[in-house]
Amino acid sequence: MYSAVFEKNAKPVIDGLSAFLAGRTGTALEIGSGTGQHIIAFSQAFPALTWTPSEPDLIHRASIDAWRAHSNAPTSRSISLDAARDWANSPEILAITPLTLILSLNVIHISPIGVLHGILNGAGKTLGPDGFLGFYGPFTENGAHTGDGNAMFDRRLRADNPDWGVRDIDDLRETGAGAGLVFHALLPMPSNNRLLILTKP
Ligand SMILES: C[S@@+](CC[C@H](N)C(=O)[O-])C[C@H]1O[C@@H](n2cnc3c(N)ncnc32)[C@H](O)[C@@H]1O
Repeated sequence: MYSAVFEKNAKPVIDGLSAFLAGRTGTALEIGSGTGQHIIAFSQAFPALTWTPSEPDLIHRASIDAWRAHSNAPTSRSISLDAARDWANSPEILAITPLTLILSLNVIHISPIGVLHGILNGAGKTLGPDGFLGFYGPFTENGAHTGDGNAMFDRRLRADNPDWGVRDIDDLRETGAGAGLVFHALLPMPSNNRLLILTKP
């Protein structure tokens, strides 16, 4: 599977992550890896980390593993992970914890709010000390969209599925705090997107 937006997103996200990942080793988990293109690029950009892709969707997992075979990248095989469930205690996750990094790109607005909360709660349990959790995508800040394009996108999402929608940074900050995570950084990205970083002290 091929997603054209990958070409637009990958470099800014890699540049944004560089400051946080300098000198870091250990394991990184991506939640909702989609086609698999991002994690291949991440594993090539940051080879000191061992990267595990995950997806609840079988077709996506086949795509991830096909990209992995095609690129010969140092990426682990994809695992099955539904972020709305108690994923932190699955045998595949226990085998790679404590995690240095969890990343989720363009997932939490195209899924029910339980997915955002599941990622935050699972990150609180699986990140090691000073581990990072990163979200990429559109967000509202104090309830306001960061651009007209995002406001229109949000209306389209909610029309498609009332449980979907662009998430607010304050909810992320508060639910993250309840899971033992501290809001660490907001990096502006192209097209009014954001890279948000939380950390586990
Ligand atoms: C818009 S795609 C983004 C894919 C990829 N991260 C990217 O940026 O190209 C949304 C992804 O979220 C995944 N997803 C949906 N519900 C999920 C859940 N409950 N747990 C984990 N991933 C989920 C979908 O399977 C899909 O691959």
